[in-house]
Amino acid sequence: MSQDSIAVGSMAGASSNSGRGLWSSRWAFFLAATGSAVGLGNIWKFPYITGENGGGAFVLVYLACILVIGIPLLMTEVMIGRRGRANPEGAMAALAKQVGAGRHWRLFGSMAILTGFLILSFYAVIAGWALAYTPAAIMGSFAGLNGESSGALFGALLGDPWKLVGFGTVVLLLTLGIVALGVREGLERSLRFMMPGLFVLLLGLVGYAATTGHFLEAVHFLFDADFSKLSGQSVLVALGHAFFTLSLATGAMMAYGSYLPAGTSIAKTAIMVALADTAVALLAGLAIFPLVFANGLEPGAGPGLIFVTLPIAFGQMPFGQLVGGLFFIMLAIAALTSAISLLEPTVAWLGEKFAIGRIKAVVLSGIVLWLLSLGTALSFNVWSDFTLFGKTFFDSLDYLTTSLLMPLGGLGTVVFGGWVLSRTVVQEALGIGHPHLFTLWWQVLRWVTPLGIVLVFLHTLGLFG
Ligand code: PFF
Repeated sequence: MSQDSIAVGSMAGASSNSGRGLWSSRWAFFLAATGSAVGLGNIWKFPYITGENGGGAFVLVYLACILVIGIPLLMTEVMIGRRGRANPEGAMAALAKQVGAGRHWRLFGSMAILTGFLILSFYAVIAGWALAYTPAAIMGSFAGLNGESSGALFGALLGDPWKLVGFGTVVLLLTLGIVALGVREGLERSLRFMMPGLFVLLLGLVGYAATTGHFLEAVHFLFDADFSKLSGQSVLVALGHAFFTLSLATGAMMAYGSYLPAGTSIAKTAIMVALADTAVALLAGLAIFPLVFANGLEPGAGPGLIFVTLPIAFGQMPFGQLVGGLFFIMLAIAALTSAISLLEPTVAWLGEKFAIGRIKAVVLSGIVLWLLSLGTALSFNVWSDFTLFGKTFFDSLDYLTTSLLMPLGGLGTVVFGGWVLSRTVVQEALGIGHPHLFTLWWQVLRWVTPLGIVLVFLHTLGLFG
């Protein structure tokens, strides 16, 4: 189907979505969007950046960022997807055409698709670490670990190109397989059991953490706000993370929005997704920090918190093999539900732009993704000396996507939503009935959100802060 043939307004109400697929209900969309949002960012990154930035005060700033940047942008993306009823590039092109704006706006859609695709190439490798650690935990490899030997165990995984490529490939194959089956049969069906499984595992782990006797220490650590520990840098970390954790500027939420049935309130659903995502991040903190404190370990250990610090705790505590195994299975499921959302925009785009079938689009994407993932897997070992601008292949890709493309794409989308689309189009699409509430949201979208993004971006470029 060519993009020009997408009749925008009338399509928004269509129930068949022209054979593109639709979620069976608003609930299915909620599961999918939450599955996308909840991932390594919540369980791996959020706890360690909170640990590094002093706890409660950081959490407060992060919540503010979710509110003024994350939620407005999330609503805008879902709205563009649903109104455009096409892949991110096609949807932006269709909407721009509808309001008489230039065709170049579609490039922000193309950029988002590319960003998600590139992120998936390294996200799969990191998700592979969780897969690798699951059998290790269950088989008791963590018994008696101390700081040094745990670091060495993780180092041995990173140093083994076969293992990194192998586990990354398994994650990619699972992702490709689910996406190949389509919106209902693949994504929706798998999410219907993966998401409840994820929540049960998480609640079970929080329950276990509550029995360690150090739960309150974790609660204080996460919720006591000591602003003296907060730096300007922490605020920017919080802003950047709000983007990543809500899967913004990668086309994921636009693509998922394009399968959202008409008549669902985008505002309400987006707020529910953001709440669920935040709840999981906080619960992950409540599952992890009691174990860290109970075993006398360091909460501010950085990126190694999950893969170096936590295994020491699993090796020392009662039922550690079981708890550790369940923890890494949970991490792998969370990563997989995010990975499928990173692939869907590319597959939808290939299918709609070049009129090829879903399977063909998946195979093509898979080949390129796998080759790219080799770059990341090998950058931890055999290619670790190969650097671009002083960064390894993985660090360069991470920087290019999360520090440059994400804020740029987010800015473009928010400006498109707040300044190019008309107020009535947006109001009607979002379903915020209360006029004052909408006006407030509209002003935040037009001023506060873009300003926040510009701030992060200038800081990234070293021009500010
Ligand atoms: N939100 C995911 C996480 O927190 O791990 C990461 C992510 C998924 C980013 C999907 C972007 C995306 F499109």
